[in-house]
Amino acid sequence: MRLEWERVLAKRVAAFRACTRTDFSQLPCPPGTIHFTGGAPPVECLPAETISDALVRAWHAEPTALWYDETDGYEGLRVAIADRMRQRGARVDPGQVLITQGAQQAIDLVARLLLEPGDRVVVEGPTYFGALQVFEPYDVAIEAVPLDEAGVVLDRLEDAFRREPRPKLFYTVPTFQNPAGVTLSAERRSAVVQLAARYGVPIVEDDPYGELWYEAPPPPPLRAYWEEVLFIGTFSKTLAPGLRLGWLVAPPRLMKPLIDAKEAADIQSDRLLQRAVAAVVTSPWYEAHLRAARAEYAERCRLLADALSHELGELARWSLPGGGFFLWVTLTGEVDAATLLPRCAEAGVTYVPGSEFYPEHRPSPSLRLGFTTLGRDELLRGAERLGRALRRLLTEARPT
Ligand SMILES: Cc1ncc(COP(=O)(O)O)c(C=O)c1O
Repeated sequence: MRLEWERVLAKRVAAFRACTRTDFSQLPCPPGTIHFTGGAPPVECLPAETISDALVRAWHAEPTALWYDETDGYEGLRVAIADRMRQRGARVDPGQVLITQGAQQAIDLVARLLLEPGDRVVVEGPTYFGALQVFEPYDVAIEAVPLDEAGVVLDRLEDAFRREPRPKLFYTVPTFQNPAGVTLSAERRSAVVQLAARYGVPIVEDDPYGELWYEAPPPPPLRAYWEEVLFIGTFSKTLAPGLRLGWLVAPPRLMKPLIDAKEAADIQSDRLLQRAVAAVVTSPWYEAHLRAARAEYAERCRLLADALSHELGELARWSLPGGGFFLWVTLTGEVDAATLLPRCAEAGVTYVPGSEFYPEHRPSPSLRLGFTTLGRDELLRGAERLGRALRRLLTEARPT
């Protein structure tokens, strides 16, 4: 006998959705398709040996690390994180650092603490779809404020902050944004925190890419401008996403409820791994690894952008990011990148359509290209396929 699951499922389940609404497994991709959908370090750059050596050393040094303890995280790692953040201009007490299962859990814990049905949440338009995945089941009104070349547009942000009821939070990725690649300028950083302070809106700053700059470091994080900012970091992009290790820096008033919420969610993050990663990120190896990663990503980004200029010319526009993993390409004309995707997939190339990154998922002429997981050859071939397919589709779509 089958249970009647529809009767018992919580209402919020209707708002759950998979990572992207596009079901990539349903796309008509021929073998050898080049996927610009990735947002991770390339497999050949994953530091498997460094991590595994550090894990073995950590286990020998402290076998009890395999027990339950330290819901807030290993002190050595919290100190290492606070030190790195201090180097970036943000004074952080290790007691204000909570270790999480990646940045994603940090977003989830913040939502658990702050959100109730009917609340308003302000995000950037476009924004990271994983944050929308977290917020949507809370039955909140999510509003996107547009971005320009220097980050979030201030008068639009103020409009959103000013309206009642006041937003419960402003979620932002101010540095090498996912998906748009944009970085909030230094002047706007201080303006954003002033607005948030004036209207009493908590800022949730998600910063997975801040250490992965190409030519020059970005301005200090928003947390450096205001100690009330909740800052989220991760080792997913600098080391490996499979580690599931990130952190949240929060004001003192929030630490106890956050640690309680973390305990309810999963008791603690992997303690052995935290010891290993603390050793890795405080070693000279880590600086050398970051230097090599920055140079590699800068090169891949340039290669893709040059190839796209050649292939797409006047059919699309984008600006070069100063770091991070993504190129945000906007097609000219009234087109929806989501409807073009199956035809591009047939031609052996995929991307994430822009509609995924807006709360209302409206049609968008933009698409996100992730370039870090593809080698030089694939980037060139992928750009060529994409250029050829889009040129054909855009010509077909144009009224005659
Ligand atoms: C802006 C942003 N936040 C959070 C995440 C999730 O990171 P993690 O693997 O640390 O959970 C990502 C990953 O793509 C991201 O781009």
